[in-house]
Amino acid sequence: WWHNVGIAPKDPILSITEAFFADSSPNKINLGVGAYRDDEGKPVVLQCVRDAEAKITGCEFLESLSRQGNVKLVEESAKLAYGENSDVVKEGRFAGVQALSGTGACRLFAEFQRRFRPESQIYLPSPTWSNHHNIWRDARVPSRTYHYYDPESKGLHFGALMDDVKNAPDHSFFLLHPCAHNPTGVDPTEEQWREISHQFKVKNHFPFFDMAYQGFASGNLSKDAQAIRIFVEDGHLIGCVQSFSKNMGLYGQRVGCLSVLCMNAKQAIAVKSQLQHIARAMYSNPPVHGALLVSTILCDPHLRNLWVEELKVMVNRTTKMRVTLQKNLEELGSPLNWDHITNQIGMFCYSGLTPEQVDQLRNKFHIYMTHDGRISMAGITTGNVAYLANAIHEVTKS
Ligand code: LMR
Repeated sequence: WWHNVGIAPKDPILSITEAFFADSSPNKINLGVGAYRDDEGKPVVLQCVRDAEAKITGCEFLESLSRQGNVKLVEESAKLAYGENSDVVKEGRFAGVQALSGTGACRLFAEFQRRFRPESQIYLPSPTWSNHHNIWRDARVPSRTYHYYDPESKGLHFGALMDDVKNAPDHSFFLLHPCAHNPTGVDPTEEQWREISHQFKVKNHFPFFDMAYQGFASGNLSKDAQAIRIFVEDGHLIGCVQSFSKNMGLYGQRVGCLSVLCMNAKQAIAVKSQLQHIARAMYSNPPVHGALLVSTILCDPHLRNLWVEELKVMVNRTTKMRVTLQKNLEELGSPLNWDHITNQIGMFCYSGLTPEQVDQLRNKFHIYMTHDGRISMAGITTGNVAYLANAIHEVTKS
C-alpha cells in the first residue's frame, strides 16, 4: 500500500529539539523552540496553573460532548483580546470557539476561509512562523508574502510593508502578528499600527491576527493587545487567534481560541455554527482539561493576578538575558553591532547569524537554533550566556 511514501521533511523548529536531545555534550544549549525555561534551563509549570489544577481536581466534569468547547474560556479570551468592556463582547458580535491552540485555530480559520471565500489567498509576513505556510497550504488556500523585516536595519521594513498593503488586490486577507513577532521580535509602533489599520480600511483588507505571545512583548496583557484594539476601534471586522501555550506554559494542552468579528449577533451565530461544523469533521470537539485550567485562572481574580505576576517574571528574565548577551558580546570586542538583541522584544531574537554560522554553532559548540538564526531567548540562562556569547563571537569575528 505505502510503497510510494517517502520521509516527510523535518519541521524546522521541532526537529531542533530532537537534535538537541540526541546530543550528549554537557555544554549543549537549546535555543530552538519558543517555550519558556527558567534560569536553570528547566521547563516551568506556573504556580497559577498548579493552583488551578488543585482547584479543579475531582470537582469538574471531564467529559464534554459539547461542540461549544469551554464557554467561559471563549468569553474570557475575547475580553483579553478586545478589552474587558469591549462592545464587541458585550453585544455578542463575535463568533468565538475554543481551538487547538494557535495552530489549530489558524487551521480552522484557513478551512473556513477556503469554504466561504474560495477565491481568496492569504498574505503572510516575510518572514513569519514557518508553520503558517504549512497551515494555509494544507487548507489549500494560496499564500503570498508581504515585506516585514529589513535585514539591513534589523527592524521593520515599514515603507515596503505599506507598499505591499497598498498594492495587494482589494479585499485581501493579511496575517498580522499583533505583538512579539515570531521570528523577528520586531513589532510596528502604535503610530505605524494606526497607519496600517487606516490603509487596510482604504483597501477593505481582512486583518487576521495570530496572537501567540500576548504578555510576552511588554509584560502587560492589554498593551500587547493594542494593535487588535486599534483595528477594532477603526471598525474592522477582524479574525483573531489566541494561544495559551507560551503565556501560561501549556503547550502540551493545546488551549486556544479563534474569534471572528461579525456585523451583528445574528451573523456571529451563523459563523460560529460553521466553525463548529468544520471542527466536528476534523476533531469533533476540543479537549477539556487545559481549557478548564485556563478558564479557572481567568475567572478567579487571585489566580489571574498571580498569572500576571508570573508573566512579568518570565518577561523580566528574558529581557535581562538580552542585556547580558549583548554586554558579553561587546566585552569580547565583537566587531559587529548587537543593538538589535535589546531592541527586539518577546520570546525571540532574530540574530542575523547566517545558516553557515548557525551550523558552526551547532557542530563546534553544541548550540541549537533554527537555521534562520532565530534565538529563543528563553533558552539563555545566567549559567550559559557567557559560553553562548563566546561561541557567537568565535563564529562571527572574521
Ligand atoms: C515556536 O515558534 O518555536 C513555537 O511557536 C513553537 C512551535 O510550535 O513552533
